[in-house]
Amino acid sequence: MLSDIQTVLYDEATIQAKVKELGEKLSRDFEGRNPLVICVLKGAFIFMSDLVKAMTIPLEIDFMAVSSYGQSTKSSGVVKIIKDLDVTVEGRDVLIVEDIIDSGLTLSYLIDVLERRNAKSVTVATLFDKPARRTVDLQADYTGFTLPDEFVVGYGLDFAEKYRNLPFIGILKPEVYEK
Ligand code: XMP
Ligand code: MG
Repeated sequence: MLSDIQTVLYDEATIQAKVKELGEKLSRDFEGRNPLVICVLKGAFIFMSDLVKAMTIPLEIDFMAVSSYGQSTKSSGVVKIIKDLDVTVEGRDVLIVEDIIDSGLTLSYLIDVLERRNAKSVTVATLFDKPARRTVDLQADYTGFTLPDEFVVGYGLDFAEKYRNLPFIGILKPEVYEK
């Protein structure tokens, strides 16, 4: 598995330090608000886990799974909810936890859904951002790292469902895609 990686962009220690910093910042900003922290599955599961451990305030968590592009390959703008929240967001301060923002379509759809359900506020924390690929005007409130326009894996992110368990984030060797 490790031999499939061409470049490590951010190693484990660097990611852990950044997540801790984000968690501390979020704890200050959400103090006394009992936020509902929403993990966008599957990619955000590791970030979510580390982030909430770094948050020192009362909070609740829930999970949501969406498919970004339906059956087609890219950017149809069609986002489908595969697994919805268990709890209602009405009147809640909601924090969406995302692994990566690419075109921004997934997130703009999610924000829209949560606002229509009358969340009191919707805030977005993403670990990774690829601003060069944005097709909708959207920015996260909290961003860990800004990435170049490269497909990355690790720390929750996959290629064909593999590599999610790598503790760092990296770029795959081209021959892996061509297999
Ligand atoms: P949009 O384009 O809606 O999509 O912002 C965000 C989702 O696309 C996936 N994505 C990636 N997954 N490596 C991955 O493993 C990447 O480099 C990458 N770029 C985008 C991801 O599921 C994210 O939630
Ligand atoms: Mg994702």
